[in-house]
Amino acid sequence: MTTVPQPTTPDDPTAVSRKKDHIDLAFRSRVESGQLDQRFYYEPLLAAHPAPGALAAFPFLGKILRTPIWVSSMTGGTALAGKINHQLARACAEFGMGMGLGSCRQLLYSDEHLPDFDVRNTMGADLPLFANLGVAQIEKLFEQKETDRIPLLLQKLRVDGLIVHVNPLQEAMQPEGDVFKRSPLEVVQELLQRFDFKIIVKEVGQGFGPESLRALLQLPLAAIEFAAAGGTNFAKLELLRSSAVKQEIFEKIAALGHTAVEMLGWTNALHAELGERCRTPNLILSGGVSDFLDGYFLTKKSTLPAVYGQASGFLKHAQGEYAELKAYVAAQVRGLELAGAFLKIK
Ligand SMILES: Cc1cc2nc3c(=O)[nH]c(=O)nc-3n(C[C@H](O)[C@H](O)[C@H](O)COP(=O)(O)O)c2cc1C
Repeated sequence: MTTVPQPTTPDDPTAVSRKKDHIDLAFRSRVESGQLDQRFYYEPLLAAHPAPGALAAFPFLGKILRTPIWVSSMTGGTALAGKINHQLARACAEFGMGMGLGSCRQLLYSDEHLPDFDVRNTMGADLPLFANLGVAQIEKLFEQKETDRIPLLLQKLRVDGLIVHVNPLQEAMQPEGDVFKRSPLEVVQELLQRFDFKIIVKEVGQGFGPESLRALLQLPLAAIEFAAAGGTNFAKLELLRSSAVKQEIFEKIAALGHTAVEMLGWTNALHAELGERCRTPNLILSGGVSDFLDGYFLTKKSTLPAVYGQASGFLKHAQGEYAELKAYVAAQVRGLELAGAFLKIK
C-alpha cells in the first residue's frame, strides 16, 4: 500500500494529526453545564501562561516552603512504610513541601524502626518535618511520668515539632483501641504548658466541630491540621477490623464528621470573631482533598495562612518508583500554577 504524503506546515508539524484528533474527540469532550465546577471564576484574559516554577516561596512553621502542599501523617514501622516515608521526604526536598510523619509511638521505647522514620537527611534541614503521637499516648506518658521521652523522640528524629492526633472515635472502633481518661483538650493544654516545642493538633479523617475548633484556635499551637472527613476515615478503617456485629452497630457513627469546606467556614468565622484571642497562626487544610483544585480553593478561601495536605493522595503514588511520585507532584504543582493564573475564588 502506498502512503499519501501529508502536507505539513513548517512551524506546526503536528497540524494534520491534531486536526484529525479534534474531529475524532470532539463528541467525547462535551462538558454538561451541571458538571461545571462552581467554586471558581475562570479569568482567561488577565495573565500569560505562568512559567514553570512560578509559585512564590513563603514562610510556614518557621521554614520556607516552595509549594503550598503538606504530606499528611502516615504510618511507619514496616519496610514498605520506610520506603514510602523516604520517597515522600525526597519529594518534599525536590518540591519544597512540608511533612508530618506517621505515629512515632514505637520509637518512644525502641530504635528498632528508627530508619523507617528517620528522613531528615533525605528531606534536608530547611523544610518543616514533624513527628506524630496520639493524644492517648501522651496522656499515658503523663500518667506514667515519662514525658521526657517526647523531647528525646523529637531530638532523635531532628524534627521541628510534634503533631498530636486526636481520634476518640477511631480508638473506640479499634479492637485494641485506647480509652481516654481525660479530654484531649486538657492533655494538649498540659503539653503546651510543659514544653516549648511546636505543636500541631489534627484529627485522623473526621475533622473537628465548631466548638473543638474554637478551643483549638485559642491555644498557642503552631497549626491546626483539619484531617477532615471526605477521604480516608480511620474510625471506619478500624471498624472494618472489628466483628461483623460491631460493624453493623457503629457503621453510621464511624462515617460521620465534617468536610474541610465546612470546617473552613467555621474557622474563618471564628478567626474574625476571636480577633487577638485567636492564637493559632497556621492551618493545614486536609482530609478528602483530592487534588490541586480542592487545595487551591481551600487555601485561597482561608483567612489564616494555610497549606493543603493529602495523605491517601500521596500514598497512591509513593509505593512504586520515585519517578511516579515525582510526576504526580509535578503535575499538582503545574495545576496550582495554572489555577493561580486563571482562577479566582467565588
Ligand atoms: C495509611 C495511612 C496511615 C495513617 N496514619 C496516621 C498516623 O499514624 N497518624 C495520624 O495522625 N494520621 C494518620 N493517618 C491519617 C492521615 O494523616 C489523614 O488525616 C487522613 O488520611 C485524611 O486525609 P486523606 O483524606 O488525604 O487521606 C493515616 C492515613 C493513612 C492513609
